[in-house]
Amino acid sequence: MSIKKQNSHYLMTDASNPTIRLNGEDYDFFCGCDYHNLQEDKSLRQAAQEILFEYPFKIGPSHYGFGKNEIYDELAKKGAEFFKKEALLIFPSGYMGSTILFRALSEKYDRIFVDVDSHYSMKDALILSGKPYVTFNHCDPKDLLDKITQNLSPNERPMIATDGVFPVSGEIAPIPEYLEIIQQFPDGIICIDDAHATGVLGKNGWGTFEHFELDDSRLYYCGTMSKALGSHGGIIPCSKEFAEKTKNSAYIMKGSTEIPIPTVAASIAAMKILKESPEKIKNLQENAQYFKKELKELGFNIDITPSAMATFTLPSEEDVEQLYQHLKKNHILPLYAPSKSYTSVPETGAIKFTITSNHSKEQFDRVLKIIKKWLNQKE
Ligand SMILES: Cc1ncc(COP(=O)(O)O)c(C=O)c1O
Repeated sequence: MSIKKQNSHYLMTDASNPTIRLNGEDYDFFCGCDYHNLQEDKSLRQAAQEILFEYPFKIGPSHYGFGKNEIYDELAKKGAEFFKKEALLIFPSGYMGSTILFRALSEKYDRIFVDVDSHYSMKDALILSGKPYVTFNHCDPKDLLDKITQNLSPNERPMIATDGVFPVSGEIAPIPEYLEIIQQFPDGIICIDDAHATGVLGKNGWGTFEHFELDDSRLYYCGTMSKALGSHGGIIPCSKEFAEKTKNSAYIMKGSTEIPIPTVAASIAAMKILKESPEKIKNLQENAQYFKKELKELGFNIDITPSAMATFTLPSEEDVEQLYQHLKKNHILPLYAPSKSYTSVPETGAIKFTITSNHSKEQFDRVLKIIKKWLNQKE
């Protein structure tokens, strides 16, 4: 089988963990998005199981259907408390977040300026918004300003849209620079998809805005419970007013079935864990920064940021593939991302290490030693 197809063909019998048994063999595991290994956490699984003694698997169709259940209200309340916001919108998947936001905000913007490497979910949201859009170069505030200046008509209001953290590269979008730009345009807003920053960035895991210590009424974001929270479902932490408006204006909110009740219970348990154990978030950020710093010292072009991906490329796709095979032979499993296989993958492909709060320094040091030896032999 071609290596390009292999990533999705592992027979996984475990949830993702710092070590994992795959196809009957043990590996140090650096894939996926389970940044705190909550997918297999006992309290999440127990919460999901126990709730079924009390409630059915799910209740009703969409928000707009009939009735309402208190367990959804509890998640909304606990989620709002977690993010220190007035409200939390919950919907079936993180993928829908940008579409919901773009529709809910549709009266506030006329033209979208979007990072060219934004996630597929944002690309779909652009089309579904029905608004004109212009792409700007990846993480490039200067090009963004040029594009706004060249394309925004006098009476139009701009919306900047981007991933907060890019899913493969792990780059954090330069939001403070974008905010400075949007402030030059009356009524401009910024909308970010924070799927990979939820539960990861900022002291409390609130995401990219917390990481940059930004709080501004022009900033909107969506997140997911399917990555760092180990559960499932999309979220928008927001004001009560915005939540009410969105429930009534975004078609997905009105017209899709809610997440199943065991998922709601697991999500509540996950938020409790992260709220009560902020050291998990700290560990994750420290792990990420330690590993990236060491990779940089080996000569890789990598920013030392607290996002949960340590991703690098090599001069050719062949080199990337060779190193990946070498790591795999040594029972180390990062993600091999061939060129153009996903949004934000570099031209020559990439090796992406997903960092979790549970990886040990010994695991990183073993990887670094193997990479260093491989690089030396290559010279
Ligand atoms: C940036 C980004 N946004 C949204 C999503 C979709 O989130 P979910 O898998 O929770 O639907 C992903 C996906 O995996 C993603 O990488």
